[in-house]
Amino acid sequence: MKDILKRLGLEDINAGTWSGSRSTQSDTAPLIDSINPSNGERIASVRSTTPAEYEQVMANARAAYLEWRKVPAPLRGDAIRRVGNALRDNKDALGSLVTLEMGKIKAEGDGEVQEMIDIADFAVGQSRMLYGYTMHSERPQHRMYEQWHPLGIVGILTAFNFPVAVAAWNACLASICGNVNIWKPSPKTPLCGVATQKIMAEALADSGLPDIFYLINDGSNELAQQFVDDKRVDLVSFTGSSAVGCKVGARVSQRMGKSLLELGGNNAIIIDEFANLDIAVPSIVFGAVGTAGQRCTSTRRVIVHSSRMDELKERLVKAYKQVRIGDPLDPKTLMGPVIEESTIERVEAAIEAVKAAGGEILCGGKRIDGPGNFMEPVIAVARNEWDIVKTETFGPILYLIETSDLDDAIAKQNSVAQGLSSSIFTDKMQHAEYFLSNLGSDCGIANVNIGTSGAEIGGAFGGEKETGGGRESGSDSWKAYMRRQTNTINWGSDLPLAQGINFDL
Ligand code: UN1
Repeated sequence: MKDILKRLGLEDINAGTWSGSRSTQSDTAPLIDSINPSNGERIASVRSTTPAEYEQVMANARAAYLEWRKVPAPLRGDAIRRVGNALRDNKDALGSLVTLEMGKIKAEGDGEVQEMIDIADFAVGQSRMLYGYTMHSERPQHRMYEQWHPLGIVGILTAFNFPVAVAAWNACLASICGNVNIWKPSPKTPLCGVATQKIMAEALADSGLPDIFYLINDGSNELAQQFVDDKRVDLVSFTGSSAVGCKVGARVSQRMGKSLLELGGNNAIIIDEFANLDIAVPSIVFGAVGTAGQRCTSTRRVIVHSSRMDELKERLVKAYKQVRIGDPLDPKTLMGPVIEESTIERVEAAIEAVKAAGGEILCGGKRIDGPGNFMEPVIAVARNEWDIVKTETFGPILYLIETSDLDDAIAKQNSVAQGLSSSIFTDKMQHAEYFLSNLGSDCGIANVNIGTSGAEIGGAFGGEKETGGGRESGSDSWKAYMRRQTNTINWGSDLPLAQGINFDL
């Protein structure tokens, strides 16, 4: 643990407020303890941001924006290239910190840092591709086109489950678009916030460029609310539950701000008569057990054709027995702890609800003796219409749901409030295409013969309905961080009006 902190320069650091690579802290501000979910011990503490520090960060960010927007986009991209390289240099150490503080296994911690590197690379390329359309004007000797301008300050609020990658998805793209970023990480993973801030800001420290990365911290909800309501924050990018995201979206729209919402999922995999279980089973296990079921893209439901149910049950239970649970830093471990005790309690309550409704627990659910928030992952046979199945229990519980045909499976898959990720396992082309058609999945992500989680950088990531509608980290998601301007230029000496209107003076 000491070694990881040392490699990231975090020994003796508990400053929670940063303007670039400069930090401040007030001795009287409350401390946010970083707790290791594998043993319940305190790793270190980070100071909350005081109201005065918040004002200073806002003022610094605004002043920096006025300079940063003058930097041509490809040169902004070059700055993000430095950030990507710094992340490459620190991949092992930062990945280890993610594992230490959040509890996901080391391969997934490293994978998260790889996502940061990937989005940095993506953003470098995007910095030369902030394209706008050119239109043909109906008026002679007129030119019409659109261009994209930066917004200003982008506020980023992230969740504990992806304590470093999601901030980078936002910050890398927002930066090449000409914005500066103020990030408030989850109070459950404050060290990941400070470590990331240090790496990304220090990468630019000797570049002569303005500070484009800012960090604030708070253990309570107060600062987050102030931040969301702050008119100086032009875009609020929020990742978290649908319940909180719904409030965030409403508050931001009340002040006519922009928001980008990445909220909950209730992701299903459909197994039809023609599914190849050799690839379906490991995909389901990775989707449901990876990150201990705490990804927004985690597989929560498997909707199985009745002809495959018995075989799938048997193979899944066998596979679950092989999931090695324990120290997430040990390379042999496949499932680490959940983030906190209340997650175990939530899964236990879900088990009770399944039993009360008449469902069957096929395996798992026991707490593992000793320190840390360890539990066995659960498989339950359930019915899609039960309230508990429609709820996103953010933990390692998977529901198996029987279906009779593809239409019924798709209807079940779409019947939940969320619309993030979905997939079908089938070797029948017609079924795959039907699932992907407008008659199929209603989710933002729909896959064939791969699972619901583990999306790669490059595709737009996000979902419909209560998932919030936002898209990040690929395709044209950069547009969310810019404002569009339509320009019409008259290069003639007459003044024809649109729609043929005559207005002779
Ligand atoms: C999240 O859980 O908030 O698709 C993000 C995945 C990851 C991102 C998940 N690339 O699982």
